[in-house]
Amino acid sequence: MTSKTTGTHGAVLEDTAPQDGDRPLVELRGAGKAYGNIRALHGVDLAVHPGRVTCVLGDNGAGKSTLIKIISGLHQHTEGDFLVDGAPVRFTTPRDALARGIATVYQDLATVPLMPVWRNFFLGSEMTKGPWPVRRLDIARMKKTADEELRNMGIVLDDLEQPIGTLSGGQRQCVAIARAVHFGARVLILDEPTAALGVKQSGVVLKYIAAARERGLGVIFITHNPHHAYLVGDHFSVLRLGTLELSAARADITLEELTNHMAGGAELAALKHELAQVGGVDVAALPDEQPEVPAPATAAPAGVASEAAAPATAASEAAAPDTAEGKA
Ligand SMILES: Nc1ncnc2c1ncn2[C@@H]1O[C@H](COP(=O)(O)OP(=O)(O)OP(=O)(O)O)[C@@H](O)[C@H]1O
Ligand SMILES: [Mg+2]
Repeated sequence: MTSKTTGTHGAVLEDTAPQDGDRPLVELRGAGKAYGNIRALHGVDLAVHPGRVTCVLGDNGAGKSTLIKIISGLHQHTEGDFLVDGAPVRFTTPRDALARGIATVYQDLATVPLMPVWRNFFLGSEMTKGPWPVRRLDIARMKKTADEELRNMGIVLDDLEQPIGTLSGGQRQCVAIARAVHFGARVLILDEPTAALGVKQSGVVLKYIAAARERGLGVIFITHNPHHAYLVGDHFSVLRLGTLELSAARADITLEELTNHMAGGAELAALKHELAQVGGVDVAALPDEQPEVPAPATAAPAGVASEAAAPATAASEAAAPDTAEGKA
Protein backbone atom coordinates (compact mmCIF):
# COMPACT_ATOMS: atom_id res chain seq x y z
CA MET A 1 0.00 0.00 0.00
CA THR A 2 1.34 3.38 -0.94
CA SER A 3 2.24 5.98 1.61
CA LYS A 4 1.50 8.83 -0.79
CA THR A 5 -1.50 10.93 0.01
CA THR A 6 -3.79 12.42 -2.54
CA GLY A 7 -6.14 14.48 -0.48
CA THR A 8 -6.10 18.07 0.59
CA HIS A 9 -5.34 17.03 4.15
CA GLY A 10 -2.70 14.60 2.94
CA ALA A 11 0.43 16.45 3.95
CA VAL A 12 -0.79 17.04 7.48
CA LEU A 13 -1.83 13.45 7.92
CA GLU A 14 1.46 12.17 6.57
CA ASP A 15 3.40 14.25 9.08
CA THR A 16 1.46 12.81 11.96
CA ALA A 17 1.37 9.27 10.61
CA PRO A 18 4.80 7.69 10.55
CA GLN A 19 3.51 4.31 9.38
CA ASP A 20 1.03 3.34 6.69
CA GLY A 21 -1.01 1.52 9.30
CA ASP A 22 -1.57 4.77 11.16
CA ARG A 23 -3.26 6.66 8.37
CA PRO A 24 -6.98 5.98 8.22
CA LEU A 25 -8.41 4.73 4.94
CA VAL A 26 -11.76 6.07 6.00
CA GLU A 27 -12.55 8.55 8.72
CA LEU A 28 -15.63 10.19 10.20
CA ARG A 29 -15.23 13.40 12.18
CA GLY A 30 -18.21 14.58 14.13
CA ALA A 31 -20.40 12.98 11.48
CA GLY A 32 -24.15 12.77 11.77
CA LYS A 33 -27.30 12.11 9.82
CA ALA A 34 -30.83 13.38 10.16
CA TYR A 35 -33.77 11.82 8.35
CA GLY A 36 -36.10 14.81 8.24
CA ASN A 37 -36.37 15.74 11.90
CA ILE A 38 -35.23 12.33 13.16
CA ARG A 39 -31.62 12.54 14.21
CA ALA A 40 -30.32 9.01 13.62
CA LEU A 41 -26.64 9.76 14.15
CA HIS A 42 -24.81 12.64 15.81
CA GLY A 43 -21.19 13.67 16.36
CA VAL A 44 -19.57 10.35 15.51
CA ASP A 45 -15.79 9.96 15.19
CA LEU A 46 -14.51 6.77 13.60
CA ALA A 47 -11.27 5.75 11.88
CA VAL A 48 -10.65 2.67 9.76
CA HIS A 49 -7.02 1.67 9.31
CA PRO A 50 -5.46 -0.84 6.93
CA GLY A 51 -4.93 -4.23 8.52
CA ARG A 52 -7.23 -3.53 11.45
CA VAL A 53 -10.76 -4.48 12.41
CA THR A 54 -12.98 -1.70 13.71
CA CYS A 55 -16.06 -3.09 15.44
CA VAL A 56 -19.23 -1.02 15.58
CA LEU A 57 -21.56 -2.24 18.29
CA GLY A 58 -24.91 -1.07 19.51
CA ASP A 59 -28.46 -2.08 20.23
CA ASN A 60 -31.37 -1.97 17.81
CA GLY A 61 -31.88 1.54 16.48
CA ALA A 62 -28.49 2.71 17.76
CA GLY A 63 -27.51 3.99 14.32
CA LYS A 64 -25.19 1.23 13.08
CA SER A 65 -26.86 0.83 9.70
CA THR A 66 -27.08 4.58 9.25
CA LEU A 67 -23.34 4.83 9.87
CA ILE A 68 -22.42 2.22 7.29
CA LYS A 69 -24.91 3.62 4.78
CA ILE A 70 -22.98 6.90 4.89
CA ILE A 71 -19.64 5.15 4.33
CA SER A 72 -21.00 2.86 1.62
CA GLY A 73 -22.57 5.71 -0.35
CA LEU A 74 -26.25 4.87 0.18
CA HIS A 75 -26.96 7.96 2.28
CA GLN A 76 -25.20 11.27 2.77
CA HIS A 77 -24.15 12.68 6.12
CA THR A 78 -25.87 15.88 7.17
CA GLU A 79 -23.24 17.04 9.69
CA GLY A 80 -19.50 16.70 10.24
CA ASP A 81 -16.93 15.31 7.81
CA PHE A 82 -16.39 12.06 5.97
CA LEU A 83 -12.86 11.53 4.64
CA VAL A 84 -11.30 8.89 2.40
CA ASP A 85 -7.50 8.79 2.30
CA GLY A 86 -7.51 12.07 4.18
CA ALA A 87 -9.69 14.00 1.74
CA PRO A 88 -13.32 14.98 2.41
CA VAL A 89 -15.80 13.15 0.21
CA ARG A 90 -19.53 13.06 -0.35
CA PHE A 91 -20.68 9.95 -2.18
CA THR A 92 -23.93 10.04 -4.09
CA THR A 93 -24.20 6.33 -4.97
CA PRO A 94 -22.68 3.06 -3.74
CA ARG A 95 -20.68 3.05 -6.99
CA ASP A 96 -18.71 6.06 -5.75
CA ALA A 97 -17.74 4.09 -2.64
CA LEU A 98 -16.83 0.99 -4.65
CA ALA A 99 -14.66 3.08 -6.96
CA ARG A 100 -12.68 4.11 -3.86
CA GLY A 101 -12.31 0.48 -2.78
CA ILE A 102 -15.07 0.48 -0.15
CA ALA A 103 -17.08 -2.74 -0.42
CA THR A 104 -20.08 -3.67 1.70
CA VAL A 105 -21.30 -7.20 2.36
CA TYR A 106 -24.96 -6.95 3.35
CA GLN A 107 -26.72 -9.64 5.28
CA ASP A 108 -28.95 -10.64 2.37
CA LEU A 109 -25.80 -10.89 0.21
CA ALA A 110 -27.64 -10.31 -3.09
CA THR A 111 -26.69 -13.70 -4.51
CA VAL A 112 -28.65 -15.81 -7.01
CA PRO A 113 -29.31 -19.03 -5.05
CA LEU A 114 -29.68 -21.36 -8.06
CA MET A 115 -26.52 -20.20 -9.82
CA PRO A 116 -23.21 -21.96 -9.16
CA VAL A 117 -20.75 -20.55 -6.66
CA TRP A 118 -18.26 -19.40 -9.35
CA ARG A 119 -21.04 -17.64 -11.30
CA ASN A 120 -22.12 -15.75 -8.20
CA PHE A 121 -18.51 -14.84 -7.51
CA PHE A 122 -18.41 -12.91 -10.80
CA LEU A 123 -22.02 -11.72 -10.84
CA GLY A 124 -22.15 -8.38 -12.64
CA SER A 125 -18.41 -8.42 -13.43
CA GLU A 126 -18.14 -11.50 -15.67
CA MET A 127 -14.92 -12.30 -17.48
CA THR A 128 -15.29 -12.55 -21.24
CA LYS A 129 -13.14 -13.63 -24.16
CA GLY A 130 -13.06 -13.20 -27.93
CA PRO A 131 -13.55 -10.05 -29.95
CA TRP A 132 -16.84 -8.19 -30.24
CA PRO A 133 -19.46 -9.19 -31.53
CA VAL A 134 -18.63 -12.79 -30.67
CA ARG A 135 -17.61 -12.09 -27.13
CA ARG A 136 -18.59 -14.83 -24.74
CA LEU A 137 -18.19 -15.74 -21.10
CA ASP A 138 -14.75 -17.05 -20.20
CA ILE A 139 -16.09 -19.81 -18.01
CA ALA A 140 -12.81 -21.69 -17.53
CA ARG A 141 -10.98 -18.57 -16.39
CA MET A 142 -13.79 -17.54 -14.02
CA LYS A 143 -13.87 -20.98 -12.39
CA LYS A 144 -10.11 -21.05 -12.00
CA THR A 145 -9.95 -17.53 -10.59
CA ALA A 146 -12.83 -18.09 -8.16
CA ASP A 147 -11.18 -21.29 -6.97
CA GLU A 148 -7.82 -19.54 -6.47
CA GLU A 149 -9.30 -16.55 -4.67
CA LEU A 150 -11.33 -18.73 -2.32
CA ARG A 151 -8.28 -20.85 -1.56
CA ASN A 152 -6.15 -17.74 -0.99
CA MET A 153 -8.59 -16.80 1.75
CA GLY A 154 -8.39 -20.34 3.12
CA ILE A 155 -11.92 -21.22 1.94
CA VAL A 156 -12.08 -24.73 0.52
CA LEU A 157 -15.32 -25.79 -1.15
CA ASP A 158 -15.74 -29.25 -2.65
CA ASP A 159 -17.47 -28.12 -5.79
CA LEU A 160 -17.75 -24.62 -7.24
CA GLU A 161 -20.53 -25.92 -9.54
CA GLN A 162 -22.95 -26.32 -6.66
CA PRO A 163 -25.68 -23.69 -6.45
CA ILE A 164 -24.69 -21.04 -3.92
CA GLY A 165 -28.08 -21.55 -2.25
CA THR A 166 -26.88 -24.95 -1.04
CA LEU A 167 -24.06 -23.39 1.00
CA SER A 168 -24.57 -22.53 4.64
CA GLY A 169 -25.13 -18.89 5.58
CA GLY A 170 -21.61 -18.76 6.98
CA GLN A 171 -20.05 -20.14 3.82
CA ARG A 172 -21.93 -17.64 1.68
CA GLN A 173 -20.66 -14.80 3.85
CA CYS A 174 -17.14 -16.15 3.28
CA VAL A 175 -17.61 -16.27 -0.50
CA ALA A 176 -18.86 -12.67 -0.39
CA ILE A 177 -15.78 -11.62 1.61
CA ALA A 178 -13.41 -13.36 -0.86
CA ARG A 179 -15.27 -11.72 -3.74
CA ALA A 180 -14.85 -8.24 -2.26
CA VAL A 181 -11.14 -8.90 -1.72
CA HIS A 182 -10.75 -10.12 -5.31
CA PHE A 183 -12.40 -7.03 -6.74
CA GLY A 184 -9.93 -4.80 -4.99
CA ALA A 185 -11.64 -3.76 -1.77
CA ARG A 186 -9.43 -1.81 0.62
CA VAL A 187 -12.20 -1.31 3.12
CA LEU A 188 -14.62 -4.12 3.84
CA ILE A 189 -17.88 -3.35 5.63
CA LEU A 190 -19.74 -6.31 7.11
CA ASP A 191 -23.27 -5.64 8.33
CA GLU A 192 -23.99 -8.10 11.13
CA PRO A 193 -22.50 -11.10 9.28
CA THR A 194 -22.89 -13.37 12.29
CA ALA A 195 -26.34 -12.22 13.45
CA ALA A 196 -28.30 -15.15 11.99
CA LEU A 197 -25.57 -17.76 12.38
CA GLY A 198 -24.95 -20.47 14.94
CA VAL A 199 -21.82 -20.65 17.03
CA LYS A 200 -19.79 -22.79 14.62
CA GLN A 201 -20.71 -20.86 11.48
CA SER A 202 -19.97 -17.60 13.28
CA GLY A 203 -16.52 -18.96 14.09
CA VAL A 204 -15.90 -19.64 10.40
CA VAL A 205 -16.96 -16.12 9.38
CA LEU A 206 -14.81 -14.59 12.13
CA LYS A 207 -11.85 -16.52 10.80
CA TYR A 208 -12.24 -14.92 7.37
CA ILE A 209 -12.62 -11.49 8.91
CA ALA A 210 -9.19 -12.15 10.44
CA ALA A 211 -7.96 -13.34 7.02
CA ALA A 212 -9.17 -10.12 5.36
CA ARG A 213 -7.31 -8.14 8.00
CA GLU A 214 -4.16 -10.17 7.37
CA ARG A 215 -4.39 -9.17 3.72
CA GLY A 216 -4.22 -5.56 4.80
CA LEU A 217 -7.86 -4.55 4.44
CA GLY A 218 -9.49 -2.19 6.86
CA VAL A 219 -12.56 -3.98 8.16
CA ILE A 220 -15.69 -2.46 9.69
CA PHE A 221 -17.47 -5.22 11.55
CA ILE A 222 -21.02 -4.38 12.66
CA THR A 223 -22.35 -6.64 15.37
CA HIS A 224 -24.64 -6.91 18.37
CA ASN A 225 -22.34 -9.47 19.92
CA PRO A 226 -19.44 -8.25 22.10
CA HIS A 227 -18.00 -11.78 22.23
CA HIS A 228 -17.71 -11.94 18.45
CA ALA A 229 -16.32 -8.42 18.34
CA TYR A 230 -13.69 -9.15 20.96
CA LEU A 231 -12.40 -12.22 19.13
CA VAL A 232 -11.29 -10.24 16.07
CA GLY A 233 -11.54 -6.53 16.92
CA ASP A 234 -8.68 -4.04 17.19
CA HIS A 235 -10.96 -1.13 18.04
CA PHE A 236 -14.46 -0.94 19.49
CA SER A 237 -17.01 1.80 18.92
CA VAL A 238 -20.28 1.46 20.78
CA LEU A 239 -23.26 3.49 19.57
CA ARG A 240 -26.22 4.32 21.75
CA LEU A 241 -29.20 6.33 20.51
CA GLY A 242 -27.16 7.68 17.62
CA THR A 243 -24.12 8.89 19.53
CA LEU A 244 -20.79 7.31 20.27
CA GLU A 245 -20.95 6.00 23.81
CA LEU A 246 -17.55 4.36 23.80
CA SER A 247 -14.53 4.33 21.52
CA ALA A 248 -11.70 2.14 22.79
CA ALA A 249 -8.66 0.34 21.46
CA ARG A 250 -8.39 -3.34 22.30
CA ALA A 251 -5.59 -2.71 24.79
CA ASP A 252 -7.81 -0.32 26.76
CA ILE A 253 -10.84 -2.50 27.34
CA THR A 254 -11.63 -6.01 28.56
CA LEU A 255 -14.34 -8.26 27.19
CA GLU A 256 -16.21 -7.85 30.44
CA GLU A 257 -16.19 -4.06 30.18
CA LEU A 258 -17.28 -4.20 26.57
CA THR A 259 -20.14 -6.57 27.40
CA ASN A 260 -21.23 -4.28 30.20
CA HIS A 261 -21.28 -1.30 27.87
CA MET A 262 -23.36 -3.24 25.39
CA ALA A 263 -25.81 -4.69 27.85
CA GLY A 264 -25.92 -1.54 29.91
CA GLY A 265 -24.85 -2.92 33.30
CA ALA A 266 -27.61 -1.03 35.13
CA GLU A 267 -30.30 -2.28 32.74
CA LEU A 268 -29.16 -5.84 33.25
CA ALA A 269 -29.33 -5.43 37.01
CA ALA A 270 -32.86 -3.98 36.70
CA LEU A 271 -33.90 -6.92 34.53
CA LYS A 272 -32.58 -9.37 37.09
CA HIS A 273 -34.54 -7.55 39.76
CA GLU A 274 -37.74 -7.75 37.69
CA LEU A 275 -37.22 -11.45 37.02
CA ALA A 276 -36.80 -12.02 40.73
CA GLN A 277 -40.20 -10.43 41.32
CA VAL A 278 -41.85 -12.67 38.72
CA GLY A 279 -40.67 -15.61 40.79
CA GLY A 280 -39.73 -19.09 39.68
CA VAL A 281 -36.39 -17.83 38.40
CA ASP A 282 -33.28 -18.46 40.41
CA VAL A 283 -31.74 -15.06 39.85
CA ALA A 284 -28.60 -15.86 41.79
CA ALA A 285 -27.83 -18.54 39.22
CA LEU A 286 -28.19 -16.17 36.24
CA PRO A 287 -24.88 -15.32 34.57
CA ASP A 288 -23.71 -11.73 34.49
CA GLU A 289 -23.02 -11.96 30.80
CA GLN A 290 -23.78 -14.07 27.77
CA PRO A 291 -21.58 -17.16 27.86
CA GLU A 292 -21.66 -17.87 24.14
CA VAL A 293 -18.19 -17.89 22.59
CA PRO A 294 -17.60 -19.52 19.20
CA ALA A 295 -14.68 -21.68 18.19
CA PRO A 296 -11.52 -19.64 18.58
CA ALA A 297 -11.04 -17.52 15.49
CA THR A 298 -8.09 -16.08 17.37
CA ALA A 299 -7.44 -12.42 17.69
CA ALA A 300 -3.83 -13.26 16.96
CA PRO A 301 -2.83 -12.59 13.39
CA ALA A 302 -3.09 -16.25 12.56
CA GLY A 303 -5.86 -15.55 10.07
CA VAL A 304 -5.93 -18.73 8.06
CA ALA A 305 -3.61 -20.78 10.20
CA SER A 306 -6.33 -23.17 11.32
CA GLU A 307 -7.36 -23.70 7.71
CA ALA A 308 -7.25 -27.48 7.95
CA ALA A 309 -10.20 -27.43 10.31
CA ALA A 310 -12.35 -25.33 8.01
CA PRO A 311 -13.57 -27.85 5.41
CA ALA A 312 -14.80 -30.28 8.03
CA THR A 313 -16.61 -27.51 9.86
CA ALA A 314 -18.05 -26.13 6.66
CA ALA A 315 -19.15 -29.53 5.39
CA SER A 316 -20.96 -30.40 8.58
CA GLU A 317 -22.76 -27.07 8.40
CA ALA A 318 -23.98 -27.47 4.86
CA ALA A 319 -26.56 -29.93 6.10
CA ALA A 320 -27.70 -27.72 8.95
CA PRO A 321 -30.88 -25.66 8.53
CA ASP A 322 -29.92 -22.29 7.23
CA THR A 323 -31.34 -19.35 9.08
CA ALA A 324 -29.45 -16.65 7.18
CA GLU A 325 -31.52 -17.04 4.04
CA GLY A 326 -33.21 -13.96 2.69
CA LYS A 327 -32.89 -11.79 5.77
CA ALA A 328 -32.45 -8.12 5.11
N1 LIG B 1 -34.83 5.98 6.31
C1 LIG B 1 -35.10 6.35 7.57
N2 LIG B 1 -36.03 7.30 7.82
C2 LIG B 1 -36.30 7.70 9.08
N3 LIG B 1 -35.69 7.22 10.18
C3 LIG B 1 -34.77 6.27 10.01
C4 LIG B 1 -34.43 5.78 8.70
N4 LIG B 1 -33.47 4.84 8.84
C5 LIG B 1 -33.23 4.75 10.17
N5 LIG B 1 -34.00 5.60 10.87
C6 LIG B 1 -34.01 5.79 12.33
O1 LIG B 1 -32.68 6.05 12.74
C7 LIG B 1 -32.35 5.38 13.95
C8 LIG B 1 -31.14 4.50 13.75
O2 LIG B 1 -31.49 3.43 12.87
P1 LIG B 1 -30.44 2.37 12.30
O3 LIG B 1 -31.15 1.54 11.31
O4 LIG B 1 -29.23 3.08 11.87
O5 LIG B 1 -30.12 1.51 13.61
P2 LIG B 1 -29.33 0.15 13.78
O6 LIG B 1 -28.33 0.38 14.84
O7 LIG B 1 -28.83 -0.31 12.47
O8 LIG B 1 -30.44 -0.84 14.33
P3 LIG B 1 -30.67 -2.43 14.08
O9 LIG B 1 -29.74 -3.11 15.02
O10 LIG B 1 -32.08 -2.61 14.47
O11 LIG B 1 -30.40 -2.72 12.65
C9 LIG B 1 -33.62 4.62 14.34
O12 LIG B 1 -34.31 5.39 15.28
C10 LIG B 1 -34.40 4.53 13.06
O13 LIG B 1 -35.77 4.47 13.30
MG1 LIG C 1 -29.21 -2.07 11.28
